[in-house]
Amino acid sequence: MDTTDFHFNLLVNAALSVLGFLICYKVIPPFGEMFIQAHLFGIDQSKTTKAKVPEALGVICGAIFLIIMFLFIPVPFYKHLYYTENYKSFPHNEYIEYIAALLSICCMIFLGFADDVLNLKWRHKVMLPTIASLPLLMVYFVNVGSTTIVVPKPFRMYLGHDVDLSILYYVYMGMLAVFCTNAINILAGVNGLEAGQSFVIAVSVVIFNILELSGCCTEAHVFSLYFMMPYIGVCLALLIHNWYPSRVFVGDTFCYFSGMTFAVVAILGHFSKTMLLFFIPQVVNFVYSVPQLFKFVPCPRHRLPRYNSKTDKVEMSCTKYKYSQLNIIGKLCVTIFRLLRVLDVKDNAGEDGQYTECNNMTLINLILKFTGPLHERTLVVILMAIQILCSGIAFFIRYHLAKLFYD
Ligand code: UD1
Ligand code: MG
Repeated sequence: MDTTDFHFNLLVNAALSVLGFLICYKVIPPFGEMFIQAHLFGIDQSKTTKAKVPEALGVICGAIFLIIMFLFIPVPFYKHLYYTENYKSFPHNEYIEYIAALLSICCMIFLGFADDVLNLKWRHKVMLPTIASLPLLMVYFVNVGSTTIVVPKPFRMYLGHDVDLSILYYVYMGMLAVFCTNAINILAGVNGLEAGQSFVIAVSVVIFNILELSGCCTEAHVFSLYFMMPYIGVCLALLIHNWYPSRVFVGDTFCYFSGMTFAVVAILGHFSKTMLLFFIPQVVNFVYSVPQLFKFVPCPRHRLPRYNSKTDKVEMSCTKYKYSQLNIIGKLCVTIFRLLRVLDVKDNAGEDGQYTECNNMTLINLILKFTGPLHERTLVVILMAIQILCSGIAFFIRYHLAKLFYD
C-alpha cells in the first residue's frame, strides 16, 4: 500500500468523522422529540422525575455512521475510478470487504431497532448477531480463508507450532459477534454507561491501530481506522446526550451497532484476541452474570441498581428465591461466589424468612457491594475509570506479556 495514499484517505476519513459528530450532536435532540411522539421512550429508573426519555437513539447514530461510510468508500478506490487505465485493476476483493462489513453492521442496526420496538426474547438476541455476521464470514472465507492459529509457546510441544481450526474458526468468529453485541448490552442501566464503555473501547482500538500502522499488517489496521474514526464521532455525540442526567437512551440498537462494528474490524483486521482484551470489564460482567443469564439463579427483567430517592444514591439491586428450589448448578454458583466474597447473600429473607436474597450478578452491583451506595454520576465515572484502566492492562498484556507466549 502506498503510504501517502492512506495518509490522505485517513485525513478525509477524520474530516468526515468530525462532520458525523457534528450532525449527530445536532440532530439527536429534535429526533428525541419525534421518538417520544412515536412512543419510543423509557423511564429513567434512577430519578425521582418519571419523565419520558426517548429510547433507541442509537438508530440515528447508526444511520449517520452508514451515510458517512457510504460517502467515504469511494475515497480509497478513487485512483481506480478516476484513471481509465486503472479500471481493470480495480481491487474487487478489497471493495467487497467494505460492502460486507457495512452489510453486517446495517443488519445489526436493523435487528437492534426491531429489538427496541418489539422487545425480543433472549434466544433472538443470541441468534440475530450470528445471522448478521454471515455476510462477513462469507467474505472472510473467500478473501482470507485462513483458519490456522499460532499455538502459544507452552502448548507447542503437544500441538505443534500452529493448528488449523477449520470450521471451528468460523464458529469462533460468529460467537465473537454474539459476545461483542450482548456484552455491551448487559453492562448497562446507569446513565452514559453503554455509550461510555463503547467510546473507551473504540479509542483503545484506534490507539492500537495507530501503533500497528508501521507493522506487518498495515492494510488491516488502516481498514479498522476507516471504520473506527466515524464510529467514535457518532458515539461521542450520543455519549454527550446520554451522560448523566440522560436526555436520551441509546437503546439496544446502539449496543448491537457498537458490538457488530467492533466484531467486524476485529475479524477483518485479524486482531480478535486484542479486541477481546479491550473487553475485560465486559468479560468479567458476563462471567459473573452467567448464573442469572442461564437461569440457574432467578433473573429479573431489570438488574440495574436500585435508586434510593431519600439519599439520591443508587444501591445494589437484589433477587429473591428459595434456596432449596435452586438446581444443583445454581446452588454451586451461589456457594462459590459467596466463598469468594463477591456476592451479598441474606438468608432468612422475606416475610416468612424462607427466602434467600442476593444481589443481581452484575459488575455494577459488585462495585456497589464494595463501595456502598453511590451517586449515579460517581458510579458511572468509576465504571469509566475501570474501563480505561483495563485498556491500559490490555496494552500491557498485548505488548509485554504476549511475548512470553508468542514469538
Ligand atoms: C439489559 C440488562 C438489564 C438492565 C438493562 C438496563 C441483563 C440480562 N439485562 O437489559 O438487567 O436492567 O439492560 O439498560 O443484564 N435504563 C435506566 N437508566 C439507564 C439506562 C437504562 O433507567 O441509564 C432503563 C430505562 O427504563 C430503559 C431501560 O433501562 O428504558 C432499557 O432497558 P433495555 O435496554 O431494554 O434492557 P435490556 O437490554 O433488555
Ligand atoms: Mg439494552
